[in-house]
Order: sequence, then C-alpha cells, then structure tokens
Amino acid sequence: MRNPHAATRAAPAATIFLPDWLAALLMLALACPAPVAAEATPTSGKIAPLELQRSAAPGWQRQKVDSQGSSWPQTDWTGYSTVAAIATPGPNGPLHFETPVTGDAARGRQLAFDRARGGSCVACHVMGKDTPPQPGNVGPDLSTIGAMRDDAWLFNYVYDPRTQNANSIMPPWGAHRLFNVAEIRDIVAFLKTLKTPYHNSDPQDDPATRSPPRDTRDNLDPTENPAMFALDRGKELFDKPGAGGKSCASCHRAPESSFKIWAARMPRFEPRLKRVLGVEEFITRHARVTTGEELPMQGADNIALSVYLHNLANGETIQPDLSSTGARKAAQSGMALMQRKLGQLNMACIDCHTKERHAFKWARGQYLVESRGTVAHFPTWRTSRGDIWDIRKRFQWCNVSVRANDLPPDAREYGEIEMALATINKGEKINSPGIRH
Ligand code: HEC
Ligand code: HEC
Ligand code: HEC
Repeated sequence: MRNPHAATRAAPAATIFLPDWLAALLMLALACPAPVAAEATPTSGKIAPLELQRSAAPGWQRQKVDSQGSSWPQTDWTGYSTVAAIATPGPNGPLHFETPVTGDAARGRQLAFDRARGGSCVACHVMGKDTPPQPGNVGPDLSTIGAMRDDAWLFNYVYDPRTQNANSIMPPWGAHRLFNVAEIRDIVAFLKTLKTPYHNSDPQDDPATRSPPRDTRDNLDPTENPAMFALDRGKELFDKPGAGGKSCASCHRAPESSFKIWAARMPRFEPRLKRVLGVEEFITRHARVTTGEELPMQGADNIALSVYLHNLANGETIQPDLSSTGARKAAQSGMALMQRKLGQLNMACIDCHTKERHAFKWARGQYLVESRGTVAHFPTWRTSRGDIWDIRKRFQWCNVSVRANDLPPDAREYGEIEMALATINKGEKINSPGIRH
C-alpha cells in the first residue's frame, strides 16, 4: 500500500458555508508543506516502474468515434481558448453600436429557436408563448424583454454581453461569430416582440418546475450496467500474461487487499513525470515496463483494467495526496483552469458546475450538476453514447460541448483538473463502474 500518510495529512474539514470549490482551494492553501524527500518515495520503499518517454495515447486524434459508432464533433475550433491555451481574451474595444436596429422578427425567432446554432437561445432562456419544448433556465426568462430594454442595449448584449457585464456567462454570439450582424439584428427584432409573461401548464416542460433526473438503476447490476462486463474483462486481463510473459498477477498476488484503497488515492503527483498521473495513464505506463503490454489510454483494455482497479476500491473515500508541493500546485492550477472561459461558447467549467453560477439549472434539456459528486463513479457507462468513459473522456466531452478543442487524454492540464476535482470530492466514496445517461 502506498503512502498511508495521505489520509491523515489532510487539512481541516471544509466549512459548511463555503462553496465546495472555494472550500477546496482553502484546504489547499492550508495543507501543510511536506519535507521535499516525501515527494519521491512511497512508504513501501518500492517505486512502481513506469515508462516515461512516450505518449500514453499514441496516435490519439480529436476525431473520435465511441465504441457503438457515435462520432464526436468534427469541427476544428482552433482560435478559441482551450484548457491548454488562451486564444480569445475578452473585448477591450468600444461597444459595437448598431442603432437603430431594424431586422426581420420572424427570421430572428427562427434563429433564436434553432437548436443547431450553438444550442441557441432557448437552450438557456424561456422566450414567450411560442417557446419550443424543454427550454433551459440558465439565463433569465426573456418573455417580457421587449418591454424592458432598448435596441442598442439588446444589440450589444447579444453581440457580446461582456461589453456591458464583465461577469456575463452568456456566449458572445457576435464576437465569437456564432451569428453575424444581420442575424443579430433579426434576433433583436424578435426580442422586441416579446412582451407577455410566460405561462406553461406543464410543470415538466417549464424549467422552473421541471424535476431533476433521478437515476434509480443499480450500477453494480450487470443486467442494468453494461460496464459490469468491463469489470469481468479487467479481472481477466489482470491474470493474463502479457507480451513479456508476466501478468499483473505475477507481481500482485492479492490485488483485493493490496489495491483496496489505491484508486481512492488517485490521481497522484508523479515526480518522474513532473505532473499528475491518473489511474488510466498509470496503467499504460506501468504495463509497458512490467507485462510488456501496450494498453493505450481510452482503449477498451485500458478502461477495463481501470474499471477493475477502481472497483477494488469501492466504498473507500477519495483522499488525494496533497502532501507534496507538486500535488498542491497541480490542484491549484486545476482550480484556475476550471475558471477559464473555453471555446466558441466561452464558458468555464465552474459556469455549469457550481451553484454560485448555474449548477442545478437546465441547459438545452440537460440538468447541470455541481462538481462535488461527479467523479467517484468513473469510469462510467454512458447510456446515451453506448460506451464506457473514463474521467478524461468526460473532460474531452465537456470541452467539445462548449466548442473548444479537446486535448489528448494524458494532457498535463487534464491531470491538474482531475487533481482539483479529487480535492473537491474529498470524502466521497468510490462507486465504480457508474452508470449515467
Ligand atoms: C449558455 C446559456 C445562454 C444562452 C445559450 C443564451 N443566453 Fe442569454 N443570458 C444567459 C445568462 C446567464 C444571462 C444573465 C446575465 C449574464 O450572465 O449575461 C443572459 C442574459 C441575456 C439577456 C439580458 C437580459 C437582461 O435584461 O438582463 C439577453 C437580452 C439575452 N440573454 C439574450 C439571448 C439571446 C438572444 C440568445 C440566443 C442568441 C441567448 N441569450 C442565449 C445565458 C444564455
Ligand atoms: C514485474 C512485476 C510487475 C508487474 C508485472 C506489474 N507490476 Fe504493478 N507494481 C510493481 C512494483 C514493483 C510496484 C511498486 C511497489 C508496489 O506498490 O507494490 C507496482 C505497483 C503497482 C501499483 C501501485 C502503484 C503506484 O505507484 O501508485 C498498481 C496499481 C499496480 N502496480 C498495478 C499493476 C497492473 C494493473 C499490472 C498489469 C498491467 C501490474 N501492476 C504489473 C511490479 C509489477
Ligand atoms: C455548458 C455547460 C458545461 C460546461 C462549461 C462544462 N460541463 Fe461538465 N457537464 C455538463 C453536463 C450537462 C454534464 C452531464 C451531467 C450529468 O451527467 O448529469 C457534465 C458532466 C460532467 C462531469 C461528470 C458528471 C457525472 O456525475 O457523471 C464532469 C466530471 C464534468 N462535467 C467536468 C467538467 C469540467 C472539468 C469542465 C471544464 C473543462 C466542464 N465539465 C465544463 C455541462 C458542462
């Protein structure tokens, strides 16, 4: 067992009144620095052999297809910020005045309701009596906006809300070229027609009263969770001799006891790589130099072993080892990355995943959840995609869903975000494989 000190080193429990992510930041700031030597030496005295040079996902490309054949968005969003680089800082120029605004309201209505255009307006707003089914409520109800704001204000707000509200969470529709100027004029013409409060007699359609989804499926029941097959496969792979003649079991004879808590202490800072290593990348790098198997990240066998190793830790509480400077810096950097505006839609992880912003609201028919409670069930079966996703694939999907290019699964930045999320989720119990819509 590595580093049993990890658990006892943890800082004081988070104050109940703070938002989870802020409490986690505070915890990081309070975590006491460890002696430098502690970074390199696990207490067992033995260090897991790792291959350190090559990519853990050779040949990885953005244009992925899930195992049941559902392809990922093919668009290249180079030019918009990613978790690796800021490409689109906020505006610093003058307002984009367009007044008086004349446009075609009927055309504007069509654009506002067209879910193919970046999710468009009804993904986040209720917009009067004609609002199509399942609108969102991340933004305010705009049903009477036409009686409240003037043309120039509306034009500018839709073109780039940051010109008037530095803290805006709405995508800059014009500045990020989701709609052109003529289209925004049409949308404004439509907004001006909205003057009557919204009434929806169906509480399940109205986002203000719609009940949150509840998953009652038993994640450990193989008839309900197809990821349970990966668990069987993972066990099999653990015992199967690799190209070098050895199996995992040749060196680890009692995984049920030796890896009982291991996955609950991951990810961890790996001094040899000078960055965070998650379970899946560990499997790739460790197997290369032990069994001789090539188990690239996000390949079926890698995920199966990840499911197995996580499942061994079921019921154990997540306790990331923050005793090293490297680990704490990584977690802090992960917290900062989660605040970065990403992609053409210009949204940060925290915009959707903290209750101070928009967690527990509806966006485009999807219920947004807070970061606490989101990691303990990975790898997880996704019914809507017909695939098992490791946590890095979830990050990749949340990137493309705001129209930002996703990164390779072994990207340093994803490791930092994973470390930050483990910190936020400290104390949650591992329950893998999960099952989600
Ligand atoms: C991802 C969610 C999201 C989408 C999609 C979205 N908005 Fe918004 N919108 C918001 C939020 C949140 C606010 C509240 C203030 C802010 O954060 O900017 C807002 C505010 C507004 C306001 C200002 C309301 C007021 O009086 O203060 C207008 C106007 C508006 N949105 C129009 C639109 C239009 C038009 C579209 C489609 C082109 C659209 N929104 C799409 C999230 C969204
Ligand atoms: C040739 C022997 C050998 C083989 C084969 C081997 N390992 Fe290991 N493994 C080690 C050693 C040595 C360590 C470090 C000491 C320890 O923690 O037991 C280790 C550590 C580990 C750890 C804890 C590591 C940490 O540093 O966080 C896990 C988990 C693990 N191995 C899983 C596997 C899996 C899965 C396989 C098969 C793909 C495998 N091992 C194959 C020798 C081996
Ligand atoms: C536009 C809103 C949005 C943004 C921005 C966003 N996400 Fe998500 N995220 C979602 C939605 C929707 C889900 C699915 C929720 C569910 O499973 O109930 C989700 C799910 C997740 C989950 C898994 C939740 C679970 O319990 O299965 C994780 C982890 C996650 N997001 C992390 C991130 C990270 C990290 C970022 C920033 C890189 C990010 N998200 C940005 C909307 C967003």
